[in-house]
Amino acid sequence: MKGIILAGGAGKRLSPLTRVTSKQLLPIYNRPMIYYPLNTLIKAGIKEILIIIAPEKAGEFLNLLGSGKDFGVKFTYEIQDKPRGLPEAFIIGENFLDNDDVVMILGDNIFEKDLSEDIRSFKSGGRVFAVEVEDPERSGVVEFDKNMKVLSIEEKPEHPKSNFIIPGLFIYDSRVIQFAKELEPSRRGELEITDIHKKYLELGELDVKKFSGEWIDAGTFDSLLRANQLAQEKLHKNLVI
Ligand code: G1P
Repeated sequence: MKGIILAGGAGKRLSPLTRVTSKQLLPIYNRPMIYYPLNTLIKAGIKEILIIIAPEKAGEFLNLLGSGKDFGVKFTYEIQDKPRGLPEAFIIGENFLDNDDVVMILGDNIFEKDLSEDIRSFKSGGRVFAVEVEDPERSGVVEFDKNMKVLSIEEKPEHPKSNFIIPGLFIYDSRVIQFAKELEPSRRGELEITDIHKKYLELGELDVKKFSGEWIDAGTFDSLLRANQLAQEKLHKNLVI
């Protein structure tokens, strides 16, 4: 299995912090933010990692992370010149993926609990997670019935049908590249990862696992602060990088 970290985007909600550097390089306690998602992949034994970055800040990522040798892995870099949506990462990464399975993590997503077993045990189809939050309208929302069967998945709905959202770590088999190519942009003009989940759901091949630890999308001032606190309290002790 290969890994992708998506660390593009302008980080507008964190301006003026992001006028100095990328969102994913801002400090989370004692490390640049990207170390946390990187840690999630490296801990799970992923050795080949594609880092997708915006052109303006590419040099900073290269300076910080280099070839990957210091981390015992190999990094490949690609540029996403405009944020056209998460699934574009699979199209950009087509050659890198070379028909392997993929785990993609967003460069601003921080997971309290280790996901190594869920990554390692993946066989085929799609595997995503569900985490309970207070503000589901900010994310992709998943609705279950009593037996945990998925009833619907909606991207940032105005009226969320549940408090469970799909955080930014997605595991797919190699068909995801073709599925990404077949997507149409949504009303906000982007390819939506929610549409990829729905595709696997239609095929009866989407596995949604509950995630019981804390999850943070560190893209706002308050969530960035919370990520710093969590890292100081707990996370930094479990870093392997
Ligand atoms: C994206 C996805 C959303 C997902 C979220 C997790 O939203 O579109 O489905 O729940 O990541 O962080 P974004 O963070 O790009 O607004």
